[in-house]
Amino acid sequence: MAFTFFFRDSHSIEQALKYFLPIVNGYRKIRIWDAGCAMGPEPYTFAIMLAERMGYFAFKNVEIDASDIDETDTFGKIITDGIYPESELTRIPKDIFNKYFTKSERDGYFRINDNILSRIRFQKHDLLELKPFSDNYNMVICKNVLLHFQPKERIEVIKMFHSVLAPQGLFLTEQTQQVPEEISYLFKKIAADANVYQKA
Ligand SMILES: C[S@@+](CC[C@H](N)C(=O)[O-])C[C@H]1O[C@@H](n2cnc3c(N)ncnc32)[C@H](O)[C@@H]1O
Repeated sequence: MAFTFFFRDSHSIEQALKYFLPIVNGYRKIRIWDAGCAMGPEPYTFAIMLAERMGYFAFKNVEIDASDIDETDTFGKIITDGIYPESELTRIPKDIFNKYFTKSERDGYFRINDNILSRIRFQKHDLLELKPFSDNYNMVICKNVLLHFQPKERIEVIKMFHSVLAPQGLFLTEQTQQVPEEISYLFKKIAADANVYQKA
């Protein structure tokens, strides 16, 4: 269930950032929740793409809460350490890899740089409990997770995302997922070729 990789569906992230950056421009705190983050490649990809576009100083205003049910109880340490085997980093564009990763003490492993690492906080959390651990997010990312839920569960989880989004907040999901018709009034789809929704 925890299949993931760095720079997965970077097209959707690119599209989301096109709308996200003008919204949060000038904010002193930019809050993001990556729900169902697995071992970290997704929130780290998002953070790197954001850092590339925002620049070093503005990026310091970013806080990313990355959460997962984490049945193996291992994701927290992996994400907090930010150390991954080279074989898992091959999809990262070379210039980005050179800029954001350095060799770790462990042979064949690389560590993500501190300016990215320090923006991400891991929280073990079961989405189906429908109890958010925080709120006032400018973006919620939930990709390749909702498909594992029953239709009714999916609706309740998306309603929860809506409730924790700040005004103008965005919800990003995968290409094959939609906000169900029953709750379509909660969001407006804003990107033509990615599932980027804005809180209505
Ligand atoms: C296929 S991975 C997707 C990882 C990442 N979002 C991506 O798209 O690459 C699905 C993740 O959903 C998590 N998950 C499944 N049920 C969950 C739940 N009830 N609450 C939180 N996370 C859950 C799994 O542990 C797994 O890490």
